[in-house]
Amino acid sequence: MKILILGGGGREHALAWAINQNPKCSELIAAPGNAGIAEIAECVALEIEDGAAVSAFALENAVDFVIIGPEAPLVVGVADALRSAGILCFGPGAKAAELEASKSFTKEICVICDIPTAKSAFFTDLPAARDHVQNQGAPIVIKADGLAAGKGVTVATDEAEALAALDSIFSSHGAAVLIEEFMEGEEASFFVLSDGKSALPIGTAQDHKRAHDGDQGPNTGGMGAYSPAPIMTKQVIKRAMDKIINPTLAEMARRGTPFQGVLFAGLMIKGGQPRLVEYNVRFGDPEIQAIAMRLGGQILDLLLASAEGTLDQAQVNWADDHALSIIMAAKGYPATYEKGEVIDGLKMRSPQVKVFHAGTARAGEDIISDGGRVLAITARGETLQDARDRAYARLKHLNWPGGFARTDIGWRAL
Ligand code: AMP
Ligand code: GLY
Repeated sequence: MKILILGGGGREHALAWAINQNPKCSELIAAPGNAGIAEIAECVALEIEDGAAVSAFALENAVDFVIIGPEAPLVVGVADALRSAGILCFGPGAKAAELEASKSFTKEICVICDIPTAKSAFFTDLPAARDHVQNQGAPIVIKADGLAAGKGVTVATDEAEALAALDSIFSSHGAAVLIEEFMEGEEASFFVLSDGKSALPIGTAQDHKRAHDGDQGPNTGGMGAYSPAPIMTKQVIKRAMDKIINPTLAEMARRGTPFQGVLFAGLMIKGGQPRLVEYNVRFGDPEIQAIAMRLGGQILDLLLASAEGTLDQAQVNWADDHALSIIMAAKGYPATYEKGEVIDGLKMRSPQVKVFHAGTARAGEDIISDGGRVLAITARGETLQDARDRAYARLKHLNWPGGFARTDIGWRAL
């Protein structure tokens, strides 16, 4: 089977690496891919947010299955275009992708389905939003509506910070804001495949969103993750399925916009009770690096079952193992940083460890940095401690003076 993966980050490298291990995969193409993906796939330049261009490419090249990695192509309807052209594809259509693209849409679903989440109010008017903050007091959470790559959220510990966040959103992001109750607890990422009818949990993970050790510094796309998430006990998973995931999937189907793909629920858990922080409609990065390390080649069978509508017959074969992924980012990330620096030490192979590329490019014989998050050093082990030791041992052999990594990934769970 000829498979096309859209995207070029660490998530797509992890998916490509896992899928390439499945004998069903005879040919792998990635658009745009990166220097790591290029070792196992043909990388092509393609306008991945243009549904007509992606469909034409898939038809011309006799692609059997398209896997859409990032949210941007999903939100603009690339999955819809592919399905209309009769091409098998993994990922929700634009209407179902609203679960990530529009925070107000998700809140509406939460209200209709009585899903446990933060109380919230939606404003399109700055004075009314400021009044609301002054009435509620801090801590309080301010969110710009729409896709903001994790940068549109301020968890304000005092009122002045909340008001400043409102001023900034109304001056730069357009004029729609969600103001939420601050939820206490521990966060986890929960991934559930759906084919529009059935749902199948495909893994749990915990992510470290802050740039620096001790969960200090600015929010990022994620600086490291480990799977499974110890806080996601069987009971918490069952509650999350019963109260959050299944009602959402049922409501999407009822509306005639069934969700097909992976639903990524960001949960806040306190006292064994999960509440929804947000939905994403794609795999988490770097959560999938850890999960892919544990699932290996069966990921392809699971994504195919989701796309083909046969998820009720699928199952995940879990090993009793753990995996952990450490992001190496360019110094300065998530603000300004340099690109184009040579990274050495990538060739070394160690058992149960994989260095996924997130933002790299090739320059002659060299691999150079080409993004904010650049590498995801990922390892598996019988215990979380084993996986962590292996990943940090591998990190030491990388030579890239312009890069940095947190030294405490997994600390909460050890
Ligand atoms: P989001 O983009 O909605 O995932 O928000 C980014 C991060 O902000 C989340 O991962 C949480 O750490 C935090 N956050 C968002 N909403 C809330 C909330 N209502 N209460 C506490 N923390 C939150
Ligand atoms: N690591 C969180 C995300 O992918 O959104």
